[in-house]
Amino acid sequence: MKNINIGIIGLGAIAETSHIPHLNDTENATIAAVVDLDRNRAQTIAEKYQVPHFFQDMEEMFKQVKVDAVMICTPNQTHIKLAKLAAEKGIHVFMEKPIGTDLQNVKEYLEFAEARNVLTMVGMPHRFRRDVSILKEYAEQEAFGNIYYAKAKLFRRRGTPKGWFTNKALAGGGAMMDIGVHALDLAWWLMGNPEVQSVTGKTLAGLGNYQTKYTASWESKNKQLNVEQLFDVEDFASAWIRFKNGSVLSLEVAWAMNGEQDGNIDIELLGDKGGATLSPLTIFKEEDGLLSKTNPIYENNALFKAEIEHFIDCVRTKTTPLIDGNDGYEVLKMIHAIYDSSNLNKEVNYN
Ligand SMILES: NC(=O)c1ccc[n+]([C@@H]2O[C@H](COP(=O)([O-])OP(=O)(O)OC[C@H]3O[C@@H](n4cnc5c(N)ncnc54)[C@H](O)[C@@H]3O)[C@@H](O)[C@H]2O)c1
Repeated sequence: MKNINIGIIGLGAIAETSHIPHLNDTENATIAAVVDLDRNRAQTIAEKYQVPHFFQDMEEMFKQVKVDAVMICTPNQTHIKLAKLAAEKGIHVFMEKPIGTDLQNVKEYLEFAEARNVLTMVGMPHRFRRDVSILKEYAEQEAFGNIYYAKAKLFRRRGTPKGWFTNKALAGGGAMMDIGVHALDLAWWLMGNPEVQSVTGKTLAGLGNYQTKYTASWESKNKQLNVEQLFDVEDFASAWIRFKNGSVLSLEVAWAMNGEQDGNIDIELLGDKGGATLSPLTIFKEEDGLLSKTNPIYENNALFKAEIEHFIDCVRTKTTPLIDGNDGYEVLKMIHAIYDSSNLNKEVNYN
Protein backbone atom coordinates (compact mmCIF):
# COMPACT_ATOMS: atom_id res chain seq x y z
CA MET A 1 0.00 0.00 0.00
CA LYS A 2 1.29 3.43 -0.93
CA ASN A 3 2.58 5.71 1.80
CA ILE A 4 1.28 9.27 1.49
CA ASN A 5 3.80 12.08 2.00
CA ILE A 6 2.23 15.12 3.58
CA GLY A 7 3.37 18.72 3.81
CA ILE A 8 1.73 20.67 6.63
CA ILE A 9 1.30 24.36 5.84
CA GLY A 10 0.77 26.61 8.87
CA LEU A 11 2.03 25.25 12.19
CA GLY A 12 -0.23 27.03 14.61
CA ALA A 13 -2.66 25.93 17.28
CA ILE A 14 -4.69 23.43 15.25
CA ALA A 15 -1.75 21.89 13.40
CA GLU A 16 0.10 21.20 16.64
CA THR A 17 -2.89 19.88 18.59
CA SER A 18 -4.47 17.86 15.81
CA HIS A 19 -2.79 17.36 12.45
CA ILE A 20 0.76 16.63 13.61
CA PRO A 21 -0.08 14.12 16.39
CA HIS A 22 -2.78 12.37 14.37
CA LEU A 23 -0.66 12.11 11.22
CA ASN A 24 2.17 10.69 13.33
CA ASP A 25 -0.31 8.14 14.61
CA THR A 26 -1.74 7.26 11.20
CA GLU A 27 -0.58 4.32 9.14
CA ASN A 28 0.31 4.98 5.49
CA ALA A 29 1.10 8.66 6.04
CA THR A 30 4.33 10.52 6.78
CA ILE A 31 4.88 14.19 7.53
CA ALA A 32 7.54 14.85 4.89
CA ALA A 33 7.88 18.60 5.55
CA VAL A 34 6.41 21.46 7.55
CA VAL A 35 6.00 25.09 6.46
CA ASP A 36 5.30 28.26 8.41
CA LEU A 37 5.57 31.94 7.65
CA ASP A 38 7.39 32.12 10.97
CA ARG A 39 10.64 30.33 10.14
CA ASN A 40 11.63 29.86 13.79
CA ARG A 41 8.34 28.14 14.49
CA ALA A 42 8.82 25.87 11.46
CA GLN A 43 12.27 24.90 12.73
CA THR A 44 11.06 24.34 16.31
CA ILE A 45 8.17 22.16 15.17
CA ALA A 46 10.37 20.16 12.77
CA GLU A 47 12.85 19.47 15.56
CA LYS A 48 10.19 18.71 18.18
CA TYR A 49 8.33 16.21 15.97
CA GLN A 50 11.35 14.93 14.01
CA VAL A 51 10.12 16.12 10.62
CA PRO A 52 13.03 15.94 8.13
CA HIS A 53 12.39 19.25 6.31
CA PHE A 54 11.07 22.68 7.24
CA PHE A 55 10.43 25.79 5.15
CA GLN A 56 9.13 29.32 5.40
CA ASP A 57 7.48 29.14 2.01
CA MET A 58 5.33 26.36 0.54
CA GLU A 59 6.69 26.80 -2.98
CA GLU A 60 10.22 26.29 -1.66
CA MET A 61 9.02 22.98 -0.20
CA PHE A 62 7.62 21.94 -3.59
CA LYS A 63 11.06 22.52 -5.15
CA GLN A 64 12.87 20.35 -2.64
CA VAL A 65 10.50 17.69 -1.27
CA LYS A 66 8.08 15.36 -2.99
CA VAL A 67 4.70 15.52 -1.29
CA ASP A 68 1.45 13.83 -2.38
CA ALA A 69 -0.81 16.15 -0.40
CA VAL A 70 -0.78 19.29 1.71
CA MET A 71 -2.79 20.05 4.83
CA ILE A 72 -3.42 23.81 4.93
CA CYS A 73 -3.77 25.10 8.50
CA THR A 74 -3.23 28.83 7.94
CA PRO A 75 -5.57 31.81 8.50
CA ASN A 76 -8.80 31.53 6.47
CA GLN A 77 -7.98 34.21 3.90
CA THR A 78 -4.83 32.35 2.75
CA HIS A 79 -6.43 28.91 2.18
CA ILE A 80 -7.39 29.26 -1.48
CA LYS A 81 -4.19 30.94 -2.64
CA LEU A 82 -2.13 28.12 -1.11
CA ALA A 83 -4.54 25.43 -2.36
CA LYS A 84 -4.23 26.73 -5.91
CA LEU A 85 -0.42 26.65 -5.78
CA ALA A 86 -0.63 23.02 -4.65
CA ALA A 87 -3.22 22.12 -7.30
CA GLU A 88 -0.95 23.57 -10.00
CA LYS A 89 1.52 20.85 -9.07
CA GLY A 90 -1.17 18.14 -8.97
CA ILE A 91 -0.88 17.92 -5.17
CA HIS A 92 -4.04 16.98 -3.22
CA VAL A 93 -5.45 19.45 -0.74
CA PHE A 94 -6.92 19.26 2.73
CA MET A 95 -7.74 22.70 4.02
CA GLU A 96 -8.99 23.72 7.41
CA LYS A 97 -12.44 25.26 7.60
CA PRO A 98 -13.78 27.47 6.16
CA ILE A 99 -12.76 26.54 2.61
CA GLY A 100 -11.90 30.19 1.96
CA THR A 101 -13.31 33.65 2.38
CA ASP A 102 -14.08 34.82 -1.17
CA LEU A 103 -16.76 32.89 -3.08
CA GLN A 104 -15.47 33.67 -6.56
CA ASN A 105 -11.91 32.61 -5.65
CA VAL A 106 -13.22 29.36 -4.18
CA LYS A 107 -15.26 28.63 -7.30
CA GLU A 108 -12.31 29.27 -9.61
CA TYR A 109 -10.04 27.14 -7.45
CA LEU A 110 -12.51 24.22 -7.42
CA GLU A 111 -12.80 24.25 -11.22
CA PHE A 112 -9.01 24.42 -11.50
CA ALA A 113 -8.49 21.55 -9.02
CA GLU A 114 -11.13 19.37 -10.64
CA ALA A 115 -9.57 19.81 -14.07
CA ARG A 116 -6.30 18.51 -12.61
CA ASN A 117 -7.91 15.62 -10.71
CA VAL A 118 -6.80 17.18 -7.43
CA LEU A 119 -8.85 16.12 -4.39
CA THR A 120 -10.10 18.83 -2.05
CA MET A 121 -11.28 18.11 1.47
CA VAL A 122 -12.40 20.69 4.03
CA GLY A 123 -11.79 20.10 7.74
CA MET A 124 -15.21 19.42 9.25
CA PRO A 125 -14.42 17.11 12.17
CA HIS A 126 -17.97 17.04 13.57
CA ARG A 127 -19.09 14.97 10.58
CA PHE A 128 -16.77 12.24 11.89
CA ARG A 129 -18.18 12.08 15.43
CA ARG A 130 -19.55 8.68 16.43
CA ASP A 131 -22.90 10.13 17.60
CA VAL A 132 -23.17 12.11 14.37
CA SER A 133 -22.39 9.04 12.22
CA ILE A 134 -25.15 7.12 14.01
CA LEU A 135 -27.57 10.02 13.55
CA LYS A 136 -26.68 10.32 9.85
CA GLU A 137 -27.36 6.61 9.39
CA TYR A 138 -30.81 7.01 10.98
CA ALA A 139 -31.53 9.95 8.66
CA GLU A 140 -30.35 8.05 5.57
CA GLN A 141 -32.54 5.09 6.49
CA GLU A 142 -35.46 7.53 6.57
CA ALA A 143 -36.08 6.92 10.28
CA PHE A 144 -37.27 10.52 10.56
CA GLY A 145 -39.23 10.63 7.30
CA ASN A 146 -39.28 14.10 5.80
CA ILE A 147 -37.05 16.37 7.91
CA TYR A 148 -38.87 19.68 7.72
CA TYR A 149 -37.05 21.61 10.43
CA ALA A 150 -33.57 21.64 11.90
CA LYS A 151 -32.06 23.80 14.57
CA ALA A 152 -28.33 24.23 15.17
CA LYS A 153 -26.91 26.25 18.01
CA LEU A 154 -23.48 26.87 19.49
CA PHE A 155 -23.17 29.48 22.23
CA ARG A 156 -19.97 30.25 24.07
CA ARG A 157 -20.05 32.54 27.08
CA ARG A 158 -16.62 34.19 26.74
CA GLY A 159 -14.95 32.25 23.94
CA THR A 160 -13.83 34.85 21.41
CA PRO A 161 -10.55 33.58 19.97
CA LYS A 162 -7.45 35.78 20.20
CA GLY A 163 -5.33 36.87 17.26
CA TRP A 164 -6.20 37.17 13.55
CA PHE A 165 -9.69 35.61 14.09
CA THR A 166 -11.21 39.03 14.87
CA ASN A 167 -9.61 40.71 11.84
CA LYS A 168 -11.99 40.54 8.88
CA ALA A 169 -9.25 40.82 6.25
CA LEU A 170 -7.60 37.64 7.58
CA ALA A 171 -10.61 35.70 8.89
CA GLY A 172 -13.33 36.71 6.41
CA GLY A 173 -15.83 37.06 9.25
CA GLY A 174 -16.29 36.38 12.96
CA ALA A 175 -18.25 33.81 14.96
CA MET A 176 -20.28 32.72 11.93
CA MET A 177 -17.18 32.06 9.83
CA ASP A 178 -15.23 30.47 12.69
CA ILE A 179 -17.66 28.25 14.61
CA GLY A 180 -20.98 28.86 12.83
CA VAL A 181 -19.46 27.05 9.86
CA HIS A 182 -19.36 23.82 11.94
CA ALA A 183 -22.97 24.12 13.14
CA LEU A 184 -24.29 25.07 9.71
CA ASP A 185 -22.40 22.34 7.87
CA LEU A 186 -23.48 19.69 10.36
CA ALA A 187 -27.19 20.53 10.30
CA TRP A 188 -27.32 21.03 6.51
CA TRP A 189 -25.56 17.68 5.93
CA LEU A 190 -27.84 15.84 8.37
CA MET A 191 -30.81 17.31 6.48
CA GLY A 192 -29.43 15.74 3.28
CA ASN A 193 -27.80 18.88 1.74
CA PRO A 194 -31.06 20.49 0.55
CA GLU A 195 -30.89 23.31 -2.02
CA VAL A 196 -31.21 26.81 -0.61
CA GLN A 197 -34.11 29.05 -1.57
CA SER A 198 -33.54 32.10 0.63
CA VAL A 199 -31.64 33.27 3.69
CA THR A 200 -32.39 35.79 6.38
CA GLY A 201 -29.80 36.56 9.02
CA LYS A 202 -28.45 39.00 11.49
CA THR A 203 -24.83 39.26 12.54
CA LEU A 204 -23.49 41.72 15.10
CA ALA A 205 -20.79 42.36 17.68
CA GLY A 206 -22.86 42.16 20.85
CA LEU A 207 -20.02 42.13 23.37
CA GLY A 208 -17.04 42.91 21.12
CA ASN A 209 -13.65 43.30 22.78
CA TYR A 210 -14.65 42.33 26.33
CA GLN A 211 -12.25 42.61 29.26
CA THR A 212 -13.66 39.75 31.38
CA LYS A 213 -11.17 38.45 33.94
CA TYR A 214 -10.00 34.85 34.38
CA THR A 215 -11.39 33.49 31.12
CA ALA A 216 -9.44 31.60 28.48
CA SER A 217 -10.06 31.06 24.80
CA TRP A 218 -8.43 29.69 21.63
CA GLU A 219 -5.36 31.70 20.68
CA SER A 220 -3.38 32.04 17.44
CA LYS A 221 0.25 30.94 17.73
CA ASN A 222 1.44 33.78 15.50
CA LYS A 223 1.44 36.95 17.59
CA GLN A 224 2.55 39.02 14.58
CA LEU A 225 -0.80 38.55 12.82
CA ASN A 226 -3.30 41.23 13.90
CA VAL A 227 -0.83 42.92 16.27
CA GLU A 228 -3.09 45.96 16.46
CA GLN A 229 -5.88 43.63 17.78
CA LEU A 230 -8.40 44.83 15.25
CA PHE A 231 -11.96 43.63 16.01
CA ASP A 232 -14.14 44.32 12.97
CA VAL A 233 -16.23 41.12 12.86
CA GLU A 234 -19.39 39.76 14.52
CA ASP A 235 -19.45 37.72 17.73
CA PHE A 236 -23.10 36.74 17.31
CA ALA A 237 -25.10 35.42 14.36
CA SER A 238 -28.63 34.17 13.95
CA ALA A 239 -30.14 32.98 10.67
CA TRP A 240 -33.09 31.28 9.09
CA ILE A 241 -32.45 29.34 5.88
CA ARG A 242 -35.37 28.23 3.70
CA PHE A 243 -34.75 25.31 1.35
CA LYS A 244 -36.41 24.55 -1.99
CA ASN A 245 -37.88 21.31 -0.60
CA GLY A 246 -39.87 23.32 1.95
CA SER A 247 -37.63 22.62 4.96
CA VAL A 248 -36.07 25.26 7.20
CA LEU A 249 -32.85 25.55 9.21
CA SER A 250 -32.58 27.85 12.20
CA LEU A 251 -29.08 28.76 13.32
CA GLU A 252 -27.70 30.58 16.38
CA VAL A 253 -24.03 31.12 17.10
CA ALA A 254 -22.05 33.18 19.58
CA TRP A 255 -18.39 33.50 20.48
CA ALA A 256 -19.47 35.43 23.54
CA MET A 257 -22.87 36.20 25.10
CA ASN A 258 -24.59 36.48 28.45
CA GLY A 259 -26.31 33.11 28.83
CA GLU A 260 -25.65 29.40 29.29
CA GLN A 261 -22.62 28.08 27.41
CA ASP A 262 -23.15 25.05 25.14
CA GLY A 263 -20.82 22.09 25.64
CA ASN A 264 -21.00 21.19 21.98
CA ILE A 265 -23.09 21.93 18.88
CA ASP A 266 -26.77 21.56 19.77
CA ILE A 267 -28.77 19.94 16.98
CA GLU A 268 -32.49 19.31 16.74
CA LEU A 269 -34.05 17.52 13.76
CA LEU A 270 -37.82 17.32 13.30
CA GLY A 271 -39.25 14.90 10.75
CA ASP A 272 -42.78 13.65 10.09
CA LYS A 273 -41.83 10.10 11.21
CA GLY A 274 -39.40 10.91 13.99
CA GLY A 275 -36.89 13.33 15.35
CA ALA A 276 -33.54 13.56 17.09
CA THR A 277 -31.42 15.77 19.29
CA LEU A 278 -27.70 16.06 19.95
CA SER A 279 -26.06 15.87 22.48
CA PRO A 280 -26.62 13.34 23.95
CA LEU A 281 -27.96 11.59 20.88
CA THR A 282 -31.67 11.02 21.49
CA ILE A 283 -34.10 9.51 18.98
CA PHE A 284 -37.82 10.33 19.17
CA LYS A 285 -40.26 8.01 17.38
CA GLU A 286 -43.90 6.97 17.30
CA GLU A 287 -44.27 3.22 16.73
CA ASP A 288 -47.59 1.34 16.74
CA GLY A 289 -49.23 4.41 18.23
CA LEU A 290 -46.73 4.61 21.07
CA LEU A 291 -44.18 7.30 21.69
CA SER A 292 -40.59 6.26 22.32
CA LYS A 293 -37.40 8.02 23.23
CA THR A 294 -34.10 6.16 22.96
CA ASN A 295 -30.47 6.95 23.64
CA PRO A 296 -28.21 4.70 21.54
CA ILE A 297 -25.18 3.36 23.38
CA TYR A 298 -21.77 3.87 21.77
CA GLU A 299 -18.13 4.56 22.52
CA ASN A 300 -17.00 8.04 21.51
CA ASN A 301 -14.26 8.27 18.91
CA ALA A 302 -11.41 10.68 18.20
CA LEU A 303 -13.07 12.87 15.57
CA PHE A 304 -9.98 14.75 14.32
CA LYS A 305 -8.09 11.47 13.96
CA ALA A 306 -11.00 9.94 12.03
CA GLU A 307 -11.11 13.01 9.78
CA ILE A 308 -7.38 12.89 9.01
CA GLU A 309 -7.42 9.12 8.39
CA HIS A 310 -10.34 9.64 6.01
CA PHE A 311 -8.34 12.17 4.00
CA ILE A 312 -5.34 9.81 3.76
CA ASP A 313 -7.66 7.00 2.60
CA CYS A 314 -9.20 9.29 -0.02
CA VAL A 315 -5.78 10.24 -1.39
CA ARG A 316 -4.67 6.60 -1.48
CA THR A 317 -7.83 5.33 -3.13
CA LYS A 318 -8.56 8.48 -5.19
CA THR A 319 -12.07 8.74 -3.78
CA THR A 320 -14.10 11.87 -3.15
CA PRO A 321 -13.92 12.95 0.51
CA LEU A 322 -16.99 12.97 2.73
CA ILE A 323 -16.74 16.77 2.86
CA ASP A 324 -15.42 17.84 -0.51
CA GLY A 325 -14.76 21.28 -1.93
CA ASN A 326 -18.26 21.61 -3.34
CA ASP A 327 -19.84 21.16 0.09
CA GLY A 328 -17.33 23.66 1.47
CA TYR A 329 -18.36 26.11 -1.25
CA GLU A 330 -22.10 25.69 -0.57
CA VAL A 331 -21.59 26.28 3.15
CA LEU A 332 -19.50 29.40 2.46
CA LYS A 333 -22.23 30.61 0.09
CA MET A 334 -24.83 30.30 2.88
CA ILE A 335 -22.53 32.18 5.27
CA HIS A 336 -22.13 34.99 2.74
CA ALA A 337 -25.89 35.11 2.27
CA ILE A 338 -26.29 35.50 6.06
CA TYR A 339 -23.88 38.47 6.00
CA ASP A 340 -25.63 39.94 2.94
CA SER A 341 -29.04 39.60 4.57
CA SER A 342 -27.77 41.26 7.73
CA ASN A 343 -26.17 44.14 5.82
CA LEU A 344 -29.21 44.67 3.61
CA ASN A 345 -31.64 44.19 6.50
CA LYS A 346 -33.81 41.83 4.45
CA GLU A 347 -34.18 38.25 3.27
CA VAL A 348 -31.96 37.37 0.29
CA ASN A 349 -33.01 34.96 -2.45
CA TYR A 350 -30.68 32.45 -4.07
CA ASN A 351 -30.56 32.51 -7.86
N1 LIG B 1 -11.45 22.22 12.59
C1 LIG B 1 -11.43 22.94 13.70
O1 LIG B 1 -12.15 22.65 14.64
C2 LIG B 1 -10.47 24.10 13.79
C3 LIG B 1 -10.07 24.55 15.06
C4 LIG B 1 -9.19 25.64 15.10
C5 LIG B 1 -8.75 26.25 13.93
N2 LIG B 1 -9.18 25.79 12.71
C6 LIG B 1 -8.75 26.43 11.46
O2 LIG B 1 -7.37 26.17 11.26
C7 LIG B 1 -6.75 27.28 10.63
C8 LIG B 1 -5.58 27.73 11.48
O3 LIG B 1 -6.03 28.09 12.77
P1 LIG B 1 -5.04 28.13 14.03
O4 LIG B 1 -5.90 28.30 15.21
O5 LIG B 1 -4.10 26.98 13.99
O6 LIG B 1 -4.26 29.50 13.72
P2 LIG B 1 -2.79 29.95 14.14
O7 LIG B 1 -2.70 31.40 13.88
O8 LIG B 1 -2.45 29.42 15.50
O9 LIG B 1 -1.87 29.18 13.08
C9 LIG B 1 -1.74 29.57 11.74
C10 LIG B 1 -0.28 29.43 11.34
O10 LIG B 1 -0.19 29.68 9.93
C11 LIG B 1 1.00 30.42 9.69
N3 LIG B 1 0.86 31.09 8.39
C12 LIG B 1 0.14 32.18 8.08
N4 LIG B 1 0.19 32.43 6.76
C13 LIG B 1 0.99 31.46 6.23
C14 LIG B 1 1.45 31.18 4.91
N5 LIG B 1 1.08 31.93 3.87
N6 LIG B 1 2.27 30.10 4.73
C15 LIG B 1 2.65 29.34 5.78
N7 LIG B 1 2.24 29.57 7.06
C16 LIG B 1 1.42 30.61 7.27
C17 LIG B 1 1.12 31.35 10.89
O11 LIG B 1 2.44 31.80 11.07
C18 LIG B 1 0.62 30.45 12.02
O12 LIG B 1 1.70 29.77 12.67
C19 LIG B 1 -7.86 28.33 10.46
O13 LIG B 1 -8.38 28.27 9.17
C20 LIG B 1 -8.91 27.93 11.47
O14 LIG B 1 -10.21 28.32 11.10
C21 LIG B 1 -10.01 24.71 12.64
